[in-house]
Amino acid sequence: MAFVQQIGTMVRPAVTPALIQAIRQEYSLPWRGIHGVTHWARVLENGTRLARVTGAKIEVVTLFAVLHDARRWNEDTDPDHGRRGAALAKKLWGSLFHLPNGDFDLLHDACSYHTESLTHPDITVQTCFDADRLDLSRVGIDPDPKYLSTEAARDQAMIEWATQRSLRNFAPDFVTVEWDRL
Ligand SMILES: [Fe+2]
Repeated sequence: MAFVQQIGTMVRPAVTPALIQAIRQEYSLPWRGIHGVTHWARVLENGTRLARVTGAKIEVVTLFAVLHDARRWNEDTDPDHGRRGAALAKKLWGSLFHLPNGDFDLLHDACSYHTESLTHPDITVQTCFDADRLDLSRVGIDPDPKYLSTEAARDQAMIEWATQRSLRNFAPDFVTVEWDRL
């Protein structure tokens, strides 16, 4: 678990190298493309930061980060990619990651509806949606508070932090040190 040590205080035990390797093997788009690994890593870190305030279930948020766009077939309009990501989550659940049934249902909802639902009744799913939407500047869209569910995500400092990282396609160290090599 070398990469867990490298990221210090971040907690994402559900996202193991074996899980990333399995996702990568079937990912059909450029690994570092606009919906690829650097986006997943920023969503993971956005979600981790939000979860400290919202109380979202961190394992669900981190798994959402690496699964929600994992079954995109193109970088443009792909309306079923969320449901394909949810199906991938179901396929890997119980072998490459473990969650209680109720938490898996949240992950499945978050992946399925992340582009078509404005919000969701559950704070963990809301946090997943916001973590993704805070990384929209990479495709020329400023995060709009009216499409963010949580007060933590609507915080101007949070929006600015995420936007600056999105604009420069920031890659956390664990991407280059670990995920790029899998
Ligand atoms: Fe995304």
